[in-house]
Amino acid sequence: MTDALDSREHPLTRRRFLAGATVLAASGIAFGIRTGRASAAIDVPSVPLGTQPVGLPARQHAWVPTLALNSVGDPVAPKYDRLLFFDVNGLPNPAYAQLLEARLRSLERRYDWGPNGLLFTVSWSSAYFKLLRVPSPVPVATGLSDFEHPSIDSYDMCLHLACDDEQRLADIEAALVHGTPLNGVVGSLALAPALTWRETRTGFTGTGLPAAHQHVRGIPAGDPVPKNSPLFMGFKSGLKKNQATEDDVTIPSGPFAHGTTMQVSYMLLNLDDWYGDMSDSQRVALMYSPQTTVEAVAKLTTDAASEPGRIVEAITKFGVIGHAQASATARQHNRPVIIRRDFDTVDGGHAGLHFVSVQRSIQDFVATRNAMNASGAHLINKTITTTANNGINAFIAVKRRANYIMPSRADRSFPLLPGRLTALG
Ligand code: HEM
Repeated sequence: MTDALDSREHPLTRRRFLAGATVLAASGIAFGIRTGRASAAIDVPSVPLGTQPVGLPARQHAWVPTLALNSVGDPVAPKYDRLLFFDVNGLPNPAYAQLLEARLRSLERRYDWGPNGLLFTVSWSSAYFKLLRVPSPVPVATGLSDFEHPSIDSYDMCLHLACDDEQRLADIEAALVHGTPLNGVVGSLALAPALTWRETRTGFTGTGLPAAHQHVRGIPAGDPVPKNSPLFMGFKSGLKKNQATEDDVTIPSGPFAHGTTMQVSYMLLNLDDWYGDMSDSQRVALMYSPQTTVEAVAKLTTDAASEPGRIVEAITKFGVIGHAQASATARQHNRPVIIRRDFDTVDGGHAGLHFVSVQRSIQDFVATRNAMNASGAHLINKTITTTANNGINAFIAVKRRANYIMPSRADRSFPLLPGRLTALG
């Protein structure tokens, strides 16, 4: 599934050519760049790096300690998220690193680190490392099931923004993408001299938000999404012990120490049958396990392991596998190996889910997704196919996918770029 990346071969070659001048002109000043299909020479402003608030975590993905806990002790995810995707203009160079880092430090000075202020991460794809001509620390993403055929994104960089104030995220996007002044920040935050914005994906998670957004394609008429549900499918996700810990997903050593990897999928939800004539217990069987009761779900607190050890019984006796049950067979030391930071979306007027996960290695995501697919179940019971009676596989369709490396906070701006440290001083 390298089509999307391969389709950029031509422009990449072209931009390398155009950007040859960039390297020669480094420290300098007017760079030849690719802007869309054309090229132009623009100045990269020399910006002071600016100070960074003390005490910020070395890990960009250190979000959990900032989150409030609900009444049963589960962390409450930020209400709103945005994913902004960018390509580097021409070839990476130290002036770009300085500009990006200065803009990010401005955001850190403006907002406290947390959902009441702002959480964000900067991550880089294999397409970026191809520009640097160094081996990529993450593989190009692929399709991971025979019932989904996602396009693979080939953006260089992904900026994930999250907080409890939707307007704040819109204002920050306008400042970074269009140079619109941001209240409380002196000077421009525009990334345009270094990075070209390509796409934004938006979303939300939390009590009541899905119900308020349910009048879209993919959700049947009649307001079926429960009023208090934090997700379109009517259940709460992200219980404390159904997530890996931030320590577990952190890369321990090497150039990306204190970093992690990020996987981003865009899934469409088709919930006509989910909210059609299925009963509550059928939905619980598919989401958790056939051995889980509706009453037990109502009492879940910090773990919904959903009987992964009884999956053979689920297949042979009940002819139904639960989503959490199948996913939990990928646990290591009784804990999942990925942290899910997904959120619902109505991008494009269709119900969907932006599935963002962080894990020490992309292989941890692949193993978890393979477990969730449970594609071998039909060998034991033919009534279970990849999509029939098999968790929530029938209700989701992955449209786009990509893998990224998320460096430490100190290395987030143009990682591995020779000379970036000099520029960042
Ligand atoms: C619409 C999409 C999805 C919904 C509504 C959903 C919902 C849920 C729910 C309700 C649980 C159990 C409770 C909890 O999370 O704390 C769960 C567990 C889980 N899900 Fe999903 N999920 C979705 C997609 C995915 C995808 C694409 C993956 C990728 C592999 C995934 C991986 C997991 C994992 C790893 C667990 C925890 C398993 C364990 O406890 O070990 N989910 N999900």
